[in-house]
Amino acid sequence: MTKPTNAMACTNTDKAPKVALITGGAKRIGAAITTALHTNGYAVIIHYHHSQTDAITLADTLNSIRPNSAKIIQSSLTMSNDKATLMAFKDACLDLFGRIDVLVHNASSFYASDLGGKIDTLYQDWDDLFLTNAKAPLFLSTVFQNELKKNHGTIISLLDIHADAKPFVGYPIYNMAKAAHRMMVQSLALEFAPDIRINGVAPGVNIFPDHDQNPELNSQTQAILTDSVPLKCIGTPEDIADAVVFLANSRYVTGQIIAIDGGRGLTLKGG
Ligand SMILES: NC(=O)c1ccc[n+]([C@@H]2O[C@H](COP(=O)([O-])OP(=O)(O)OC[C@H]3O[C@@H](n4cnc5c(N)ncnc54)[C@H](OP(=O)(O)O)[C@@H]3O)[C@@H](O)[C@H]2O)c1
Repeated sequence: MTKPTNAMACTNTDKAPKVALITGGAKRIGAAITTALHTNGYAVIIHYHHSQTDAITLADTLNSIRPNSAKIIQSSLTMSNDKATLMAFKDACLDLFGRIDVLVHNASSFYASDLGGKIDTLYQDWDDLFLTNAKAPLFLSTVFQNELKKNHGTIISLLDIHADAKPFVGYPIYNMAKAAHRMMVQSLALEFAPDIRINGVAPGVNIFPDHDQNPELNSQTQAILTDSVPLKCIGTPEDIADAVVFLANSRYVTGQIIAIDGGRGLTLKGG
């Protein structure tokens, strides 16, 4: 068999310690991803917005396992709306360890949108849900492109089984934003090849949101959702993290989206 001449993503001979940046990496699924990547030898940059205590506690825990292996950075994803702030965020991230090899788009907002409600609220929902679930992933991927290219790095996006023709009722703008993010994964897999791989993980029901953020997902709805999963239980953040580690280490996989959903996606009707 002839050896590929320019398949750079397949040929990483660089032995320097690799660094992963996880957006929203301080708690819930983000913390599980941060921890799993760290366990697999990565130094980690834990991005957070409001969860400073969680970020510091997680970084302290990881640094007690391996000194100087975890750092934190605070920012709202609104930094994507402004070129100077976005570039400053990129530079600040690169200053922490001097390199980035893995970019995980985990941060997200998630709530129902009432299309019969106030138009002002609809504008706010649109701006926020598209910012966190689509715009920030695209702009962060773009500004870290040269760094990831240099390191033959990889991008992993947290998507949703409802982002692909199976909308979650009551959450139309979230569904639309995640669908855009899903297409970003597939588009950038082509745009960024052969130097950067990009893949997605689509959770089903892995950890329920806090009740005050999502009153629609009350305990009765949660029980119905759980019962709808063929494996008859919700997943765990660690199930998602395992898939992220698999994709981070899979040198011949790009443009793929893995559902980690206990089979729930198979039971959903197409939209
Ligand atoms: N939970 C599930 O079962 C499930 C199901 C399907 C898809 N997913 C996807 O999996 C990923 C993780 O899910 P999750 O439930 O663990 O997420 P989450 O708790 O809802 O959100 C993750 C983090 O996003 C950050 N974030 C939100 N808005 C932000 C903003 N404007 N700027 C900066 N950071 C912001 C928050 O950071 P701070 O806390 O620091 O403010 C938050 O901790 C998400 O992309 C989600 O859409 C999850």
